[in-house]
Amino acid sequence: MIPQEVLDRIIDALDIVEVVSEYVQLKKTGRNFKACCPFHNEKTPSFVVSPEKQIYHCFGCSAGGNAIGFIMKQENISFPEAVEKAAARAGIELPRYRVEDKQKASLAGQLYEINQFATVFYQNFLRSEKGKKALDYLKKRGFSGEILTKFKIGYAPDEWEALKKHCEKKKIAPMLLRKAGLTIPSEKGKGDYDRFRNRIIFPIFNERDNVLGFGGRVMDDSLPKYINSPETAVYTKGNVLYGMNFSKRGIRDKGFVVITEGYMDVIIPSQYGIDNTVAASGTALTPRQVGMLKKYTDTAIMVFDADQAGEAASLRGLDLLIEEGVKVRIATLPEGEDPDSFIRKNGPEKFTEQITSAKDLFDYKLDLLIKKLGKRDIGGITDEMLPTISRVNNMVVKSGYLKTLAERLDIHEESLRCEMNKVKKDYSYHYAEEAKVVPTSKNYRNSEIHLLGLAVSDKALCSKIKKELGFDKFRDGNIKTVISIVDELFAKGEKEINPGKLISRFREGKDERDAITQAVAKAEITQDAEKALRECMTCVRKENKEEELKELTQRLKEAQRNKNNDEINELVSKIAGVHKEKAA
Ligand code: CTP
Ligand code: MN
Repeated sequence: MIPQEVLDRIIDALDIVEVVSEYVQLKKTGRNFKACCPFHNEKTPSFVVSPEKQIYHCFGCSAGGNAIGFIMKQENISFPEAVEKAAARAGIELPRYRVEDKQKASLAGQLYEINQFATVFYQNFLRSEKGKKALDYLKKRGFSGEILTKFKIGYAPDEWEALKKHCEKKKIAPMLLRKAGLTIPSEKGKGDYDRFRNRIIFPIFNERDNVLGFGGRVMDDSLPKYINSPETAVYTKGNVLYGMNFSKRGIRDKGFVVITEGYMDVIIPSQYGIDNTVAASGTALTPRQVGMLKKYTDTAIMVFDADQAGEAASLRGLDLLIEEGVKVRIATLPEGEDPDSFIRKNGPEKFTEQITSAKDLFDYKLDLLIKKLGKRDIGGITDEMLPTISRVNNMVVKSGYLKTLAERLDIHEESLRCEMNKVKKDYSYHYAEEAKVVPTSKNYRNSEIHLLGLAVSDKALCSKIKKELGFDKFRDGNIKTVISIVDELFAKGEKEINPGKLISRFREGKDERDAITQAVAKAEITQDAEKALRECMTCVRKENKEEELKELTQRLKEAQRNKNNDEINELVSKIAGVHKEKAA
């Protein structure tokens, strides 16, 4: 048995979106991600991954679970195997008794060490005869010697086995190199070869300056422009912000972070004294990254070039920041420029001007929509604006936004508020349609599942169910077990239930898991939770009465057969009682 606490830590450390993305191409829609289900054949996507809830669910085939369950199902491996895989990915050591060889216990430490070793190797090459071309390239792009040293930039020579051979000499295990993603096993089984060849090397650090992996850039226009380390036991793309180790102080001192796109857009600003930038390295921000930023600041300035910002919908990704209580502002650079090229052309002062004149996301998005759709398209504009506004937690700020939006569109604030209450549960009501496709099992089970979902979503709802219905009214034993656990977790002071973790309490293949994913999916598309709660409780009560009646009638028949008059009388009055209760 793997302790629950360890499973919890693994689920905490993994991002299900990252995990699933390795196998399935996900598309962001609102706060969730969608795709065609990998577990059944379909043409329109009904497979949904929720980063907040850390679960996936297919509205078509009802498959669902957390990250570990996904790996298990996708790879067709056992639960312990999937746990091991997930733990390695999360950089978490499994309890000792599970680990046969000692080496494995400190894999992360060994990977840091080998990465550090490789960093120095690449750095030395950049300063060697073979690295002259690379150094010239970097100099031409304006890199100072100092900045090359600060960011530990290096060069991987144009050879298949340079790093590998060097490590052999130093008696470093080839397997370790492979686990670090530095070498790749050759397909013909002729041993491994170096992953990075003839590329400029940018080590990727964590906040504590450990090297997690590398990005390697070509020195001409060939493709791919960058190759990066694969996911390893210490490197998960969505868990890292490039430059965080260098910029955390600057971010704290300045009170805001500048979020850019790439390595160059952190390094060049740094060379010019701008020390509060990080890069998401060409992907959308993940909740983990936002969490890292929040330790240092509550204000983020996104730098976009003009084309990028053209699509208002692309700003939706930023709703994640807003939801986490981060104030977001947008700075735009002239078309085709990124921070690196802009600073080299115009100097750091001009860049700082762009940053300080960054617009509030609200104003920015609204201006963009009005420009694109025209002021008359109130529906189109509010469709984009309201979900963003609804994520603002600060009521004063939220009210201010609504007021401004109403004024700018020339409409009543009250009608905006009504509309906003509808979008409250976000864009995900697109799924409502598909939810109906779920093969309906018995009605009572549906209601019980729905109640479970509501209980998981909110402590107050959970205690309402307990008080007004009582968990013993649940007829499905699995659902009863799960809701009792949920109640216990809340009682222990848990503020929110992470469904991904809740699932990990049950083994794959157990009905409880299905119940949880279905429940959470149902709750997700519930627009009026209070109403749903009342309806489901009524339904459960009614079904319980009917079940009771069935049983009493059965016993009555039996008593009549036995001509047991006392019992007959007792049962008849009981049945009448239940009928009365049911009508009430
Ligand atoms: N990226 C990547 N793989 C690619 C292209 C881009 O991982 N094939 C990531 C890199 O982290 C890169 C970032 O996306 O830094 C931004 O990409 P881009 O703007 O194309 O690169 P720059 O960093 O601006 O590099 P350069 O200025 O040298 O073109
Ligand atoms: Mn660039």
